[in-house]
Amino acid sequence: MPDRDLAARRLLAVTEEELQRIVLDIHDGPVQNLFAALSQLTLLRGRLSAATYLPADCLDTVQRAIGLLEFSLSEIRDLLGAFRTPEFAKSGLAEIVENIVVQHESFTSGTVSLEITEPLPVDVSLPAKIALCRILQESLSNVRRHSGVETATVKMRVENGRLILEIADQGRGFEPPPLDGPQATERQEHIGLRGMRERAELAGGKLFVESHPGAGTRVRMEMPIHE
Ligand SMILES: Nc1ncnc2c1ncn2[C@@H]1O[C@H](COP(=O)(O)OP(=O)(O)OP(=O)(O)O)[C@@H](O)[C@H]1O
Ligand SMILES: [Mg+2]
Repeated sequence: MPDRDLAARRLLAVTEEELQRIVLDIHDGPVQNLFAALSQLTLLRGRLSAATYLPADCLDTVQRAIGLLEFSLSEIRDLLGAFRTPEFAKSGLAEIVENIVVQHESFTSGTVSLEITEPLPVDVSLPAKIALCRILQESLSNVRRHSGVETATVKMRVENGRLILEIADQGRGFEPPPLDGPQATERQEHIGLRGMRERAELAGGKLFVESHPGAGTRVRMEMPIHE
């Protein structure tokens, strides 16, 4: 195994205590600084609103920066919150997937048809669960943003000793770049697809993207299960 892969796997083999520590470090460091920046900008906005002369767009720019900081903070809070709770580490795969689907449906106008085939593995590592969450969230967000349709299908099952998660839509589709091998020509902007593939591989699995213009998209994650 190349050094880089080995290092990456080691990085992902975090224990729950290590994960809690990372979460706390993020919370106590960068998050506090973001809050400080937000309060400085809010102060500035107050002073600018009271000023008699202002260069054009000045207040708008500050307002946009405040909006960006607020949005980032709420995203970080959601992220830290979701993975911090002891419930996340204990919850089963079906429950995790159902929660993400319900959350997606309540925040968007999209609908998701969910098919979970039991039995699913019980003993799944925390990194594998996090990978699964991220892949599902990014795929559903891609359906909403790019497919042109409102409906996605999510399926989870075990097949030939592997856990399979599939997210499909019947939307406009696209020509997926090769995500793997020497021909991989991912463009810089394909961060979502690349991130999904990396997460799957770091957790010991594999990601496949099947799509063609006009023929919908299917993202499939396969992960070996150890029972
Ligand atoms: N379900 C889908 N239907 C149609 N096109 C898709 C779908 N998923 C991905 N794509 C296409 O693949 C491209 C790359 O997706 P990717 O998730 O990597 O990036 P993105 O969603 O554009 O940006 P981000 O980095 O924020 O995720 C998209 O811009 C889109 O053109
Ligand atoms: Mg994306």
